[in-house]
Amino acid sequence: MSSNKLVVIGQGYVGLPVAMRAVATGWHVIGVEVDADRAARLAAGDSYVEDVPSAELAGALASGRYEPTVDYARAEGFDVAVVSVPTPLREGAPDLSYIVDAAERLAPLIRLGATVILESTTYPGTTEELFGPLLTAGSGLRPGVDFHLGYSPERIDPGNRTWNLVNTPKVVSGTGPRSLAAVTAFYDSLVERTVAVGSTRTAELTKLLENTFRHVNIALVNELAMFAHELGVDVWEAIDAASTKPFGYLRFTPGPGAGGHCLPIDPSYLSWRVRRSLGRSFRFVELANDINDHMPDHVVRRVTEMLNARHRSVAGSRILLLGLAYKANTGDAREAPATRVAGLLADLGAELRAADPHVDPTRLPARLMLVDPTPAELAAADLVVVLVDHDAFDRDAVARHARLVLDTRRWLPGPHDARRPAAAGAPTPDPAGHAGTSRAWVPAQSPRREGVALAVESL
Ligand SMILES: NC(=O)c1ccc[n+]([C@@H]2O[C@H](COP(=O)([O-])OP(=O)(O)OC[C@H]3O[C@@H](n4cnc5c(N)ncnc54)[C@H](O)[C@@H]3O)[C@@H](O)[C@H]2O)c1
Repeated sequence: MSSNKLVVIGQGYVGLPVAMRAVATGWHVIGVEVDADRAARLAAGDSYVEDVPSAELAGALASGRYEPTVDYARAEGFDVAVVSVPTPLREGAPDLSYIVDAAERLAPLIRLGATVILESTTYPGTTEELFGPLLTAGSGLRPGVDFHLGYSPERIDPGNRTWNLVNTPKVVSGTGPRSLAAVTAFYDSLVERTVAVGSTRTAELTKLLENTFRHVNIALVNELAMFAHELGVDVWEAIDAASTKPFGYLRFTPGPGAGGHCLPIDPSYLSWRVRRSLGRSFRFVELANDINDHMPDHVVRRVTEMLNARHRSVAGSRILLLGLAYKANTGDAREAPATRVAGLLADLGAELRAADPHVDPTRLPARLMLVDPTPAELAAADLVVVLVDHDAFDRDAVARHARLVLDTRRWLPGPHDARRPAAAGAPTPDPAGHAGTSRAWVPAQSPRREGVALAVESL
């Protein structure tokens, strides 16, 4: 590669870490970002991506080898281009408009021998049927002949402290052997290990397989959790026990629903493609969507039951939600089930408060009152719902001050009540004056406030 000029189109959760890693390995990087506010923040050394500290961004800028810009013309003469723009769903169907836009703007800048790689998650066939032809139309150059074209799925897991861009194997593909060699050589300069597959379609499918696998397995344990609760069995204990099997089992845990940018969206790209091309339904995906989409309703039903067992209604009860992000230790609230749980409880008339140290408050629904989970807030809540197990939350404070907790993540230690409340038997009075069948639990290390018992149920 002649001058090591890389352009990364889209400076988001995926594109910015790629750009930073490339700067660290000696590339000259142009980060093209259509959102002018984002580009300006980047230029000022202010990172909005949690996995990229502002200090790292500032270092990249100071090196003189990273230039964030809204101007595609700055990509002129590039050696390699990586496209990492959003691929959302619109009315249930893939929205590839961002890929189309990026391809149309990039195409006139491609020169002979350059390499263009799509990283956005999408259905099998996108690179060869849509992305490549758009690049050819705008450049007059043929993929695999005049320029190299490939697809490499991103496996970034925001907030994961063990697996990152560098040590996670990177699946790579190209349209033909020369493209594959160029794409592999590029990623070999960034990551520890590349895994070549025979076609861009296989690479596209690999990403969707990975996320569909997770989506389906989460749906499995979610549905199991609902049935186990009704049967009076502790599903979490069963999952812990099953997880001791050293082969043939992978641990997934229940939760209030599948959120984030990938799981609620990517499997639908696959099922859309299957339906569009084959006229058949991908039943696993549809079932998993159905189960995971309804988990927030299940959480609200459990909240209603828990309050009902204490002769209270949701309407007028003070409910504190812990966590609004889609998963632990991230501020990303896209598609987060907490948003739906909050909306349903607000509709029922709950006096709702929520705490999340990571999520940007300006991105939250207006009806939600954000608070700090102080002892006073915890004690004042009729019910605390743990939706996200952020490390920043204080377990001891919850255990010490809350009265009634629905723990959807089995975050609190100690015994949880697996039994069905209310209808299963006569209500049991507790020292707080409520009634229910939940066990009172006093953690050893954090003595309860005097005279107030804690009742915890898990999903
Ligand atoms: N976030 C993840 O954890 C993750 C993981 C694996 C794969 N992916 C996939 O990677 C892709 C990007 O996801 P993301 O999370 O980085 O999205 P993002 O929204 O964080 O970032 C995308 C960026 O692209 C910019 N953009 C949109 N159109 C553009 C254009 N034509 N030219 C230049 N910039 C443009 C947007 O303004 C945005 O800043 C998606 O296909 C996603 O499914 C995401």
